[in-house]
Amino acid sequence: MVEVRLENIVKRFEGTTALKGISLRIHEGELFTLLGPSGCGKSTTLRIIAGLEFPDEGEIYFGGERVTYLPSNVRRAVMVFQNYALWPHMSVFDNIAYGLKLKKMPKEEIAKKVEWALELVKLKGFENRYPTQLSGGQQQRVAIARALVVEPRVLLLDEPLSNLDAKLRLEMRSEIRRIQRELGITVIYVTHDQEEAMAISDRIAVMNVGTVEQVGTPKEIYEEPKTEFVASFMGKTNVIPARVVDRAGDRVAVEFGSVRLDGLRYTGDSDEVVVVIRPERIRIAPGENTVSLRGKVDLVEYYGFFVEIIGIFDEHRIIARLMSDKGLEKFKPGSDITFYVDRDDIIVLPKQQI
Ligand SMILES: Nc1ncnc2c1ncn2[C@@H]1O[C@H](COP(=O)(O)OP(=O)(O)OP(=O)(O)O)[C@@H](O)[C@H]1O
Ligand SMILES: [Mg+2]
Repeated sequence: MVEVRLENIVKRFEGTTALKGISLRIHEGELFTLLGPSGCGKSTTLRIIAGLEFPDEGEIYFGGERVTYLPSNVRRAVMVFQNYALWPHMSVFDNIAYGLKLKKMPKEEIAKKVEWALELVKLKGFENRYPTQLSGGQQQRVAIARALVVEPRVLLLDEPLSNLDAKLRLEMRSEIRRIQRELGITVIYVTHDQEEAMAISDRIAVMNVGTVEQVGTPKEIYEEPKTEFVASFMGKTNVIPARVVDRAGDRVAVEFGSVRLDGLRYTGDSDEVVVVIRPERIRIAPGENTVSLRGKVDLVEYYGFFVEIIGIFDEHRIIARLMSDKGLEKFKPGSDITFYVDRDDIIVLPKQQI
C-alpha cells in the first residue's frame, strides 16, 4: 500500500510523443482509474508505473522513494494484463505460487499464501484445475490472485474486464472493488469505458492524446467537466457549438442558430464555446430558473423506465432523457416540443480543438 506520484512524465516512441508531461498523485489505498480513448497513453502510463517501460523525462515516486528506473520486482508493482497471461501448462495452484517459488519461500508458507489468495478471489477448490478448464471470469480471478499473493505495493490493472461478457464484466467489476477495499491496496485501473470507470473508481484521470485533462471523483468529472473533451467523453450528452453574444459579470447569453439562452454561468475568455446539457437534466415543464428551447420532436425511443426524446432545434439535435410517465405518449415525430433546463445545470465551456 503506497502513494504513487508521477512528475512530468514524458515518453517518446519513434515518431510519436505518447506522454506529454503527465503529473498525477494517486493516494494510498485508492482505486484510481486512467480513462480515455484508444491510443491516449493509458497503457504506456501504466507500464511506466509498473517498471516495464522507462520514461524519457520525469520521475516516479512510491511514497517517498524514487522508483523511476527500478525494475518491476524491486519496486513491487504488479500488473494484471487483459489476456490474463496465465501459464497454460501449470495448475491454478502453481500459477499463483509461481512468484513465491521464485522468492524461494518455504513450501508450507507458499501453501498458506495460495490458500489465502484463493479464498480472497473465491476460488477455493480450484487448485488443481488448469487454465483451459476455467471460465474467463475464473481465469481473471486466478490472474488477480497471482498478482496479490506477492503482496505488491501497487496493483495495476490494464483493461482487466474487456475479454468478459457483459454480465461477467459487471460481476468482476464489483469483485475487484471488494478485494481492493478488503485489502486497502492502491490500485491503478485502466479502461476506455466511462461507465466502468464511474462505477469502480475513487478518482478518475481523463486522458486525451498524451495529456491528463482532468482529475476528480466520478461525480466531479461527470457534473463539473472542465473541458469540452471531458464533457463529451463522459457518456451520452448534448454538446452544442455556440457563440457568446452578451456578457454581464460571470453570466453570459449564448446563441446557436436562432436559439438564444441567457443567464448562463461562464467565465472563460473565448466567445467560441460549447453548451453542455446532460439529457437527464432536461424537463418538459418550466421551472423557476429555466431556459426554454422550442423545437420539434425528431424521434422517441422507449427504454422501459425512461424515454429518450430527440428534439430538433434549428438543425441541432438535442436528446432529453425523461422518466417514463403518462403524458409522454403525445410526443410523436413532428410534434411541437419545448425543452426546459435549469440555467445552473447548463455548462458552458470554451470550444476546444479535438
Ligand atoms: N512500443 C511502442 N512503439 C511505438 N509506439 C508505441 C509503442 N507503445 C505505444 N505506442 C504509441 O503510443 C501511443 C499510446 O499508446 P498506449 O498503448 O499507451 O494507448 P492506450 O491508451 O493504452 O490505448 P488502447 O485503449 O488502445 O489500449 C499510441 O499512439 C501508440 O501507438
Ligand atoms: Mg492500452
